[in-house]
Amino acid sequence: MMPTKFSHPYQPLLLRILHGLTSLFAIAAIITAFWTYNTYDGRWGQVALPKFPEIEGIHGTFGLWTLLIFPFFVVYAFHRGQRRLIQSDSLKKITRFGQPIWWYTVHRSINTLSILALTFAVFSGKMMNEKWLPQGELNHIWYYAHLISWLILVIFIALHLLMSVKVGGIPLILSMINWQFRSQDSPTLWCKHITNWPSNFDHAIVKQWFLSLSTLKIIEIFVLISIVLAWVISIIKEII
Ligand code: HEM
Ligand code: HEM
Repeated sequence: MMPTKFSHPYQPLLLRILHGLTSLFAIAAIITAFWTYNTYDGRWGQVALPKFPEIEGIHGTFGLWTLLIFPFFVVYAFHRGQRRLIQSDSLKKITRFGQPIWWYTVHRSINTLSILALTFAVFSGKMMNEKWLPQGELNHIWYYAHLISWLILVIFIALHLLMSVKVGGIPLILSMINWQFRSQDSPTLWCKHITNWPSNFDHAIVKQWFLSLSTLKIIEIFVLISIVLAWVISIIKEII
C-alpha cells in the first residue's frame, strides 16, 4: 500500500495505463451492453432509450477492445501488483472482522474477484453469436450466461469502488485516474528496461515460479487460459 499519511498515494504509470484502458473499455461495454439488451430483449425491464440496432456491433467492439488489453493488465496485476490481490494468509486475516487488516483483505479479495468477473464477461461474450438477438433467439445458454456476467461485473465494480474509497478515500481514487508521473516512472525509460530485460532475466525466478503453486498462481493460470480459450473456441466455431 502506498503511504497515504505523509504524501499523496501514487500509482505506477504502467498500472494506470493498463487499469485505465481495461476499466474504460469495460465500462463502455457495460453501458452499450445495457442498450443492446434494451433494444433486443427487455424481459426484466426496459427504459425509454431509442431502439438502436447498431448498438450490438458497437458493444461487440468495446467488448473486443477489453478482451485485447485485459491479458496485459492481468499479467501486471498478478506480478507487479501482487500485493493488491489475495495473499496466502488472506483466509486467516478475514477472521479479524472490522480491524484495518480486515478491510485490506476484503479490498484485495474484491480486486481479485473483479478480475474473475471480467474474465467471465469477456469469455461468455466470445461465446455469443451476433445473429442471435436480431433473430429474436433469446434463450441460448451463453446469452443467459453473458447477461448474468453483466450483473456480476456491475456488482463487483461497485464494491471495488466502495472498498477503494474505504481504504484510501477519494485521494486513492484520484491517484488512479491522474496523468502525472514521477521521473523514474517515465515511459522514456521503458525502452531501456525492455532492452536490458534479457540480461537481467533470471532463470531461477522462472523455475521458482513453476515450482511453488499458490492460490494466486492457480487463479492467474485459470484467467489466462480462459482468455486463450475464448479466442480458440470462437475461431473454431467460425470455421465449422
Ligand atoms: C472492469 C473494471 C475494473 C477492474 C477489473 C479493476 C481491477 C483492479 C485491480 C486488479 C486492482 C489492483 C491493481 C494492482 O494489482 O496493482 C485495482 C486497483 C484499483 N482500482 Fe480498479 N478495477 C476496475 C475499475 C476501476 C474503476 C472504474 C476505478 C475508479 C477510478 C478503479 C479504481 C481503482 C483504485 C483506486 C485502485 C487502487 C487500489 C489500491 O491502491 O489499493 N478501478 N483495480
Ligand atoms: C446486458 C448485458 C450484455 C448483453 C446484452 C451483451 C450482448 C452481446 C452480444 C449480442 C454480443 C455479440 C455481438 C458481437 O460479437 O459483436 C456480445 C459480444 C461480446 N460482449 Fe457482450 N453483452 C453484455 C455484457 C457484456 C459485458 C459486461 C462485457 C464485458 C466487457 C461484454 C463483452 C463482450 C465481448 C468481449 C464480446 C465479443 C466481441 C467479439 O467477439 O467481437 N459483454 N455481447
